[in-house]
Amino acid sequence: MKKMKDILIMGIESSCDETSVAIVKNGREVISNIIDSQISIHEKYGGVVPEIASRNHVEVISSVTEEALKQANIHWSEIDAIACTYGPGLVGALLVGVSYAKALSYALNKTLIGVNHLEGHIAANYITHLDLKPPFLTLQMSGGNTQLILVKDYTSFEILGKTRDDAVGEAFDKVARVIGLGYPGGPKVEKLAKTGKPTIILPKPNLDNLDFSFSGIKTAVINLNHKDPNINKADLAASFQKDVAEILTENVEKAIKETGIKKVALAGGVSANLYIRNKFEELKKKQGLEIFYPELRLCTDNAAMIAAAGYYHYIKGEQSDLSLNAIPNLKLNEN
Ligand code: KG4
Repeated sequence: MKKMKDILIMGIESSCDETSVAIVKNGREVISNIIDSQISIHEKYGGVVPEIASRNHVEVISSVTEEALKQANIHWSEIDAIACTYGPGLVGALLVGVSYAKALSYALNKTLIGVNHLEGHIAANYITHLDLKPPFLTLQMSGGNTQLILVKDYTSFEILGKTRDDAVGEAFDKVARVIGLGYPGGPKVEKLAKTGKPTIILPKPNLDNLDFSFSGIKTAVINLNHKDPNINKADLAASFQKDVAEILTENVEKAIKETGIKKVALAGGVSANLYIRNKFEELKKKQGLEIFYPELRLCTDNAAMIAAAGYYHYIKGEQSDLSLNAIPNLKLNEN
């Protein structure tokens, strides 16, 4: 039951290959979170096919929404606002969720809130850790983005460093494809790496600020595999994963020294990687940090995190109008 002061936000997420609708209470409590994943559809193409993704979003978005309301056991009249991802992501896929949210907002006279997908990944931590409050550092590790962010407030961010080339998830996916593991690559590289030893030397970037680079190490894996197709793939996966974990943890360690902030939240699909989480646990012990991870099901794309991020805009009185559009290359500070 909704108490007088409870705020219920419906979240809608369709930026890539997951159609998801969720109902979240007061920004932190997930009442329902339905995720319709298209992984099995795109698997045979070795990656997400944008046009197929858009069509599938159109096909399932109404039934996913009905299921989210049914599981939450609430009526439309109880929803305070509709929050939808409007970028970054695939433009056709984003447009499905944005158009659907705009139509609902207009027809039902509900507040509309456009949410930056990257803010959503950060907000996944608010659902898992009820006491987490800004300021803290976030390491955003997704398929499309890798950046180190100072979360100054719930809706205010400063980018401290970002990748100069590939995103870390993209590097995992490309390595997986080259060594014959298929899509989605991250979890498959992690599984194979468990059976190998990190004995292969790969080049690591040497940047003097808080930026990242993953293309050198990715290209080295591709070249080694090309030169010797019989190379031990498990050792290659383990070596790649170890070096990636070192690049990530070393940059966070530098950011802690520069900012003096010892609270770090991990975000995005790659934060589901247990080897990388373990490396952050080691850093936590070494530096006396507080480290937060979203629960595994909230690491990858879902609408609960979008509703949670939308809540913090809602309570500040920020809303979108019906001119809201999909912005495929939306940056964190541009909302
Ligand atoms: O954050 P996300 O769900 O989507 C974007 O918004 O980009 O991240 C997807 C990325 C993919 O590149 C996927 O391979 C990677 O996260 N990923 C992983 C793991 N699970 C997902 N990478 C490494 N290890 C994992 N266990």
